[in-house]
Amino acid sequence: ATANIGVIGLAAMGSNLARNLAHHGNTVALYNRHYDRTEKLMAEHGSEGKFVPSKTVEEFVASLSKPRTAIIMVKAGAPTDAVINELADAMEPGDIIVDGGNSYFMDTIRREKDIRARGFHYVGCGVSGGEEGALNGPSMMPGGTEESWQTLGPILKSIAAVAEGEPCVTHIGENGAGHFVKMVHNGIEYADMQLIAESYDLMRRGLGLDPGEIADVFGQWNTTELNSYLIEITAEVLHQTDAKTGKPLVDLIVDHAGMKGTGTWTVQTALSLAIPVTGIAEAVFARGLSSQAEQREEAAKQQLTGPSGSLDIPADEREAFIEDIRHALYASKIVAYAQGFDEINAGAKEYDWKIDLAAVARIWRGGCIIRAQFLNVVSDAFESGEANVSLLFAPYFKTAIEEAQESWRRVVARAATYGIPVPAFSSSLSYYDGLRSKRLPAALIQGQRDFFGAHTYGRVDASGAFHTLWAEDGRPEIEA
Ligand code: 6PG
Repeated sequence: ATANIGVIGLAAMGSNLARNLAHHGNTVALYNRHYDRTEKLMAEHGSEGKFVPSKTVEEFVASLSKPRTAIIMVKAGAPTDAVINELADAMEPGDIIVDGGNSYFMDTIRREKDIRARGFHYVGCGVSGGEEGALNGPSMMPGGTEESWQTLGPILKSIAAVAEGEPCVTHIGENGAGHFVKMVHNGIEYADMQLIAESYDLMRRGLGLDPGEIADVFGQWNTTELNSYLIEITAEVLHQTDAKTGKPLVDLIVDHAGMKGTGTWTVQTALSLAIPVTGIAEAVFARGLSSQAEQREEAAKQQLTGPSGSLDIPADEREAFIEDIRHALYASKIVAYAQGFDEINAGAKEYDWKIDLAAVARIWRGGCIIRAQFLNVVSDAFESGEANVSLLFAPYFKTAIEEAQESWRRVVARAATYGIPVPAFSSSLSYYDGLRSKRLPAALIQGQRDFFGAHTYGRVDASGAFHTLWAEDGRPEIEA
């Protein structure tokens, strides 16, 4: 037994993670259901470090030194359960099973409980950064016991991305905490992407810019507080021309956005925790709408009426409007992150995890898909306690929104008037306005509920629950 870590599942993410581990001095046990994948990895990259390939799970387990630590990199769901069982049958109490896939956190809670009962440590570990991140340094969000972190921590630190001199990995909390945080990371990723897409649409359809010009705008934005991986790759995607036709590639891509489910989980979970993650939800719904092929075709056939989408901005005001879009994007992004962190906070309360939000923001500064300059200030805001209630109240972000908000309103109003959908921009703005409203129309809703269902309401001038006989004398009565 010579390997200090093993990887099971050698598709793109698994092989890259295994190589990354080997590049950093680990001896890596390898196993894949079909041995040809293992052979391929050995043939192409076997010389990059120390690997111990195995043909069976038993051989794989035997090649690991104790406590045996194995990272599973297979599809979330049933395939993960199958591999966990195979591993547990071959391992011994005290060994550590790590699930590095995008598993649903409730599955992780369940598996951790089962596996712990059998004497093993189980770590659900969010891994972000795609294939490239897996190879060159991902951001990692491990859950599980403190004891497993003692063994696993140094190994994960050795392969993580580094931001401001710190490895982008931290022990998130017990059982499902790591996968919960990864899930919210993905929800925020959806929101970030949707906000960028809305900005693109406003410039493309609204201002009539071509993809190359818009790529340059994103390139320039990447030198501002928006500096981030997603803005950077957006510029690259928009610069890409199709080899066959010479056209901008983006124009040839079918406009139906796919999704594998993590964004949906983020919203479902937020709903069950009663946390309004409106920016993330709109991003998920916008992908859904884009993929409703039949309804969109019918809408085109029926020529649903409305403005054309041209924003009718005079040429000499274009630049100022592009600046407005940038501000709108930034303000909406702050709202989406505030909502995402609210969800993590609520999850931590519900599931009894101690999650350090500042540490979460810090490990998102590098390696992951949402990595961004602005996460430095986010982590500072949590560290100092300024963001205890919401990120929106930390002075830095309060000021940022103050400065952005006129632009934000102009963009949303103009988009609505001229017919460009901006669901994430506008829902974030509505959230912000809702939050700062001293009085909301919820009072009326309470009245309606009491009218038809005797659901009772509270009064601003007295404590207790009240019910009105609405159809009769209108005088409130105190409910028993
Ligand atoms: C990451 C990504 C990664 C993956 C998502 C995308 O953090 O590296 O989030 O996990 O790309 O599965 O999900 P969709 O297919 O749902 O867009």
